[in-house]
Amino acid sequence: MTNNIRPASMERITTPALAQAFIDEQVAAVRAQVGDKKVLLALSGGVDSSVVAALLIKAIGRQLVCVHVNHGLMRKGESEQVIEVFGKELDANLIYVDATDRFLDLLAGVAEPERKRKIIGGEFIKVFDEEAAKLEGISFLAQGTIYPDILESDGVKAHHNVGGLPEDMQMELVEPVKLLYKDEVRVVGEALGLPHAMVYRQPFPGPGLGVRCLGAITRDRLHALREADAILRAEFDNCGLAEKVWQYFIAVPDMKSVGVRDGKRYEGWPAIIRAVNTTDAMTATIEEIPYAVLHKITNRITAEVDGINRVLLDLTPKPIGTIEWE
Ligand code: XMP
Repeated sequence: MTNNIRPASMERITTPALAQAFIDEQVAAVRAQVGDKKVLLALSGGVDSSVVAALLIKAIGRQLVCVHVNHGLMRKGESEQVIEVFGKELDANLIYVDATDRFLDLLAGVAEPERKRKIIGGEFIKVFDEEAAKLEGISFLAQGTIYPDILESDGVKAHHNVGGLPEDMQMELVEPVKLLYKDEVRVVGEALGLPHAMVYRQPFPGPGLGVRCLGAITRDRLHALREADAILRAEFDNCGLAEKVWQYFIAVPDMKSVGVRDGKRYEGWPAIIRAVNTTDAMTATIEEIPYAVLHKITNRITAEVDGINRVLLDLTPKPIGTIEWE
């Protein structure tokens, strides 16, 4: 598998047995490519980079150096899961960088969405570069490129790759899942023993909660967003919607409305629920959420999350609304 074209003869990986055969083949290929040299990987905790990490750990163990940059815009518990699964369970050579303050300081006062994206993408590269410069003897860079990335690399989604790495990084690439479709990456991930929730994680944009904490990000509103989003996810898990809905999240705009709590005026932000189904993210439809579930989510968010006093539901399909608010 040296080029970027999937051979017509390549069977779709749909079963654990096919996944195992793929893993065996890639373990041998990676060992042959890398020898006793070291490989660097930016491990975001997303499906693709996690599967690549698990595959490379199987092939070359601690010759793989994983760097997880926490930009402070992760969902609740995500960086902790990366540390738990890779640092502890898989005994990976994991460097964890908590760069929250760097990102949030740079983003302070910046309201324009594309500028926010550029700042987050640019700072990510800087932090990763700095970590790479501290390491010695790294010869390869591993990436979680998958086949749709190759097919779409000069298409409409190019601007989405804000987590991309600098082009001038002079390292040979290791891209063991570059000919796989997403569903195949997931089957391989399960065969590698990664947690189901990690392998079936819904898509999460590179700039993370940064594009859901609308307008200029503040720490208190970001905290409220993260907590509200965690409640939404927990309740979707409880009622089986998590398995059914393609992407669901909370957005919190930079505005307040008047409310009342404990007999006193209580100004707070609204939490906006967005839950969409799609196959390719180019168009999306709205998932129908039972009212009982909506009431429960509303009650929990308004009772448990400081600063939120209303819960709204976004019923807008794509088009006309994009999936994200920014
Ligand atoms: P939109 O909002 O364009 O989103 O309808 C389509 C899909 O792309 C994700 N998305 C992003 N992913 N960086 C990413 O890595 C981004 O800047 C970004 N913006 C949107 C979005 O979550 C949805 O799945």
